[in-house]
Amino acid sequence: VPNRTNPYAQSTAAQLSPKQQSTRSSGVGEDYVLSDRDFDRIAQRLRETCGIVLHNHKRQMVISRLSRRLRSGGFASFSEYLDHVESERDATESEAFANALTTNLTSFFREPHHFEHFAKHIIEPKLASGDPKLRVWSAGCSTGEEPYTIAMVLMSLAKSVPPDFRILATDIDTTVLSKAKAGLYDTSKLEGIPEYTRRMFRFSDQEKKCRVSANLIEIVKFLPLNLLNQWPMKGPFDAIFCRNVLIYFDASTKFSLVDRFADLLPRDGVLYLGHSESILGEHPKLESLGRTIYRRK
Ligand SMILES: C[S@@+](CC[C@H](N)C(=O)[O-])C[C@H]1O[C@@H](n2cnc3c(N)ncnc32)[C@H](O)[C@@H]1O
Repeated sequence: VPNRTNPYAQSTAAQLSPKQQSTRSSGVGEDYVLSDRDFDRIAQRLRETCGIVLHNHKRQMVISRLSRRLRSGGFASFSEYLDHVESERDATESEAFANALTTNLTSFFREPHHFEHFAKHIIEPKLASGDPKLRVWSAGCSTGEEPYTIAMVLMSLAKSVPPDFRILATDIDTTVLSKAKAGLYDTSKLEGIPEYTRRMFRFSDQEKKCRVSANLIEIVKFLPLNLLNQWPMKGPFDAIFCRNVLIYFDASTKFSLVDRFADLLPRDGVLYLGHSESILGEHPKLESLGRTIYRRK
């Protein structure tokens, strides 16, 4: 039976941000007490398995999101739930644990200057050269808006997409990957994006929903991948987008991933990072072009 003495129970919905309100929609977040020890166990597991550093101010988020797992699995406390997850007997729950704690915020044409650069310095020269092969990787693609934006930029410049143009899109979170594969979004997600992209969606449900058109879905391949693990692909990639992912990792994980990305880029290949993820100082393999755009030396 869930313990009802949680101090967080006093928070009202009105005191919470929209994101917090949406994460506690089940209304059960207040029912479980999270001790310091169990918070540390959660933080340690998340860091070891996903690379994500969990700060203490995320405590309420952890309670909200994991309470749903406790309730649906019939666990009486965080300790009991964590004993189960740590036992590694239940791969499905280990996956659900990680899925619950990732942050998946994304949008079409997020940080648009990256797509302007990508169009001008990657796609246009590629099309002009007649080279039939293009490889782009969206690492940490969330619900798919980033790789579909890449595909839209490509489609806006090529009359028909050359058959060997491919976009790989990966994420550790299998729930967001399913949404990404379906390519179905609320029409409100299109607000503010370039007008030309409207022809790349099919609208339904009285224009409330839109689906990315089939030829875009075709050129994006979605795969589950934990960036901390070995990568099955060998590259090279003309461009890698890894934006708003490294921000959750510690400095050494971030450095090691940037280095591994650099190894998959050919000379002049480009790495796009999120706006707050710039590489501090000189990198032996990458030249900064400004605004978190890096070119392989
Ligand atoms: C905030 S979203 C960024 C989405 C998109 N790149 C953008 O900038 O809009 C971060 C994504 O990184 C994923 N992620 C976190 N840790 C990961 C890991 N170890 N391996 C792969 N993906 C991870 C999360 O699941 C989440 O979908």
